[in-house]
Amino acid sequence: MSSDLELNLHLPDAGATERCGALLAPSLAGRMVVTLHGDLGVGKTTLVRGLLRARGVTGRVKSPSYGLVEHYPISSLYFYHIDFYRFTDSAEWENAGLAECFRDDSVCLIEWPERVAGLLPAPDLALDLAHSAQGGGRELRARALSAAGERCLNALAAGMQTPR
Ligand SMILES: Nc1ncnc2c1ncn2[C@@H]1O[C@H](COP(=O)(O)OP(=O)(O)OP(=O)(O)O)[C@@H](O)[C@H]1O
Ligand SMILES: [Mg+2]
Repeated sequence: MSSDLELNLHLPDAGATERCGALLAPSLAGRMVVTLHGDLGVGKTTLVRGLLRARGVTGRVKSPSYGLVEHYPISSLYFYHIDFYRFTDSAEWENAGLAECFRDDSVCLIEWPERVAGLLPAPDLALDLAHSAQGGGRELRARALSAAGERCLNALAAGMQTPR
């Protein structure tokens, strides 16, 4: 895919990170893969929480680190929140049935994708979070890698220009 649309945003607090997730949420459709890069504690799960809440998840959205995958059936779509931080060997990919997460009726939200490089399908949207150099807050670099990803990014850009 030739798309390389990119958006850079300053997120002053955790609420802004959740709002990014919420703005991306409506444009997500089956088969989409979103990767979330960035250091420990930078806000990846926070963004996923905002996204899932915007799709109607009301229960707790916790880090899936220990079980690798949390799944949220939301009407006819399955949202898989996968955290590969503790992923150590590729046999786990088979054993945990991870390939089965990637389907026409599922959206995969993936923390620590670099730990499974080579196994993952190409993402539609790559989100990179980093601590801001000064003060608190985070910097988000969002890249669209497909037409579907581009639709999400456009929605995020439009939403961020509109005051809450
Ligand atoms: N824009 C922001 N500004 C300041 N704090 C933030 C921001 N976004 C998220 N946080 C805070 O960062 C902390 C860690 O967030 P979170 O658990 O989402 O990180 P993570 O990237 O998923 O970490 P891990 O790699 O361990 O899974 C939380 O306390 C959250 O409130
Ligand atoms: Mg996390």
